Amino acid sequence: ESPKHNTEEKLQKVCHLLDQEISYFNWTGFYFKNGDKEELKLGPYVGAPTDHTIIPYGKGICGQVAVSNETFVVPDVHQESNYLSCSIDTKAEIVVPIFKDGQNVGQIDIDSHTVDPFTAEDRELLEWLCNEVSKIL
Ligand code: SME
Repeated sequence: ESPKHNTEEKLQKVCHLLDQEISYFNWTGFYFKNGDKEELKLGPYVGAPTDHTIIPYGKGICGQVAVSNETFVVPDVHQESNYLSCSIDTKAEIVVPIFKDGQNVGQIDIDSHTVDPFTAEDRELLEWLCNEVSKIL
C-alpha cells in the first residue's frame, strides 16, 4: 500500500527535518512497496531528483533491504557491486526498513556526500523513526 495523502505530507516534513538538521544527510527519502509487485516505488524525498523511481526487489542497496529486512549501512558506495548510483556526489548510504504488521513495507534511504559519515546514533535514530512512521501508515 502506498501512503495516504496526509501521510505523504508528514513524510515530506520528516525528510525536510532530517535534511536540515544533519549536515551529512544529502538525500533523504522514502521508498514503499509498489502494491503487490516485488518492487519499490519512490515516495516523499528531499534532494536531487533520482532516475530510480522504481527499484526491483534485490537490486541496489534499497532492493537488498527489501529482501533482507535489515538495516544496511554502506560507508563507501564504491565498494558495493550491487549499488544503483543516483548521484556522482554520493559516497555513502544508509537504508532502514519499515515494518507494518510484521511485513517489510518500505524504507528510509539516506545518501551522503561524505565517506563513512553514519554513526551508531544515526542508525538508532533512523530505526526509531521508521518504527514511528510505521504507526501512521
Ligand atoms: N542508491 C540506491 C538507489 C536509490 S538512490 O540512492 C536515491 C540503491 O543502491 O538502492
